[in-house]
Amino acid sequence: MTDSISNGVSGVEISPDLAARSGLPGEAHGNSPVALGPSRFVRACLRQPVDRTPVWFLRQAGRYMAEYQAVRKHHSLLEICKQPKLAAEVTITAAEKLGVDAAIIFADLLLPFECMGLPFEFLAGEGPVVHQPVRSAEAVDALRTDRAAELGYVGEAIRLVAAHFAGRAHDETDDQLGIIGFIGAPFTLASYMIEGGGSRQYIHTKTLMYREPSAWQRLLEKLAAVLREYAQQQVDAGADVIQIFDSWAGALSIADYREFVLPITRTLVREVQAMGVPVIYFGVDTASLLPSMRETGADVLGLDWRTPLANAWRGLDYACAVQGNLDPITLFAPPELLEVRVQQVLDEAAGRAGHIFNLGHGIVPGTPVENVQRVVHYVRAHSRSWSQQATAR
Ligand code: CP3
Repeated sequence: MTDSISNGVSGVEISPDLAARSGLPGEAHGNSPVALGPSRFVRACLRQPVDRTPVWFLRQAGRYMAEYQAVRKHHSLLEICKQPKLAAEVTITAAEKLGVDAAIIFADLLLPFECMGLPFEFLAGEGPVVHQPVRSAEAVDALRTDRAAELGYVGEAIRLVAAHFAGRAHDETDDQLGIIGFIGAPFTLASYMIEGGGSRQYIHTKTLMYREPSAWQRLLEKLAAVLREYAQQQVDAGADVIQIFDSWAGALSIADYREFVLPITRTLVREVQAMGVPVIYFGVDTASLLPSMRETGADVLGLDWRTPLANAWRGLDYACAVQGNLDPITLFAPPELLEVRVQQVLDEAAGRAGHIFNLGHGIVPGTPVENVQRVVHYVRAHSRSWSQQATAR
């Protein structure tokens, strides 16, 4: 048997923290038996054996879905996030309609800004806008870190989602649906705080980083302090996994990433893992950064579609699980081509333990829902035959 087969438990690494804090019995090291994660999604995050490749989608609940549009007609984005019943309903509806293996809680990356004393709003067509961007040491010092408890509504929504799915198998096997909580990474959140919104060149962000390194460091530390508490709330509420979105880390050179971003991110990843859950660390345009991102110690790295999955994974020495990496715009292709591209991603993963099927970035508005469902059906049917072949060999 080669190590490319997803059925060997040896070689699985599970942190003692995770084994202990998630309540999983069993030994964490060497070839001794490792207790299995509670769902195929969590097992894949830990590079444990799975019966088929788990699948979910970045931005699986959103404007491309009629059910979301209907809720959105009567409520703003922030209202949905802040009313646990609504957030849970949107989360559950998307997961059930698609038949995916994991539900990501409906929330937004920028929610912690409010409790840090930085109001923002979503403007139609423009995305998030922070009216008073953080561009000086004084502005950094004014940010608060003592009110993360105000984010409790997200944990409340996770509790409702967890209660809904508890003990309920989501497919013909007895598998439990994975529940994903998420936070922004310090760099990506700092970039929104400093730019005041999205950016192409990150001039203000990099200027602060280069010219006021101690203010930069304080800013990232303040963000990390709030994010740690926010992640803990989500884990306490029942999140099985935390995804850390460093969506815009790809704007950094390797040298800048390593000097200004990696250390604090590594600390945050370790702290979240110590809460007893695996961490997925995701960014876009990260081909050259992946080996450095791997040094955060994240259990799973999210891959965008620009690098073939096989190359990216090999470049990481298969030292972590990977999630990805279909181009989200492929969902607009005719079914035959879509299926060819999905199969290519599965072929690149080659049945190796530790692949979670996903897109390379989020589903965009206008995406045909039936194509998203088609991908789920395809992965369910074809990754199973892959793993059966792997067993037979
Ligand atoms: O199922 C899901 O994934 C939905 C939950 C979710 C939202 N935002 C709701 C949302 C998640 C995981 C996010 C994360 C998020 N938010 C990220 C990281 C993910 C990524 O794509 O890299 C970022 C960068 C943000 C900040 C943000 N929020 C932006 C840039 C925008 C505008 C994007 C756009 O397409 O207009 C938002 C708005 C937003 N957040 C929407 C949703 C469903 C769409 C706006 C709406 O419904 O009015």
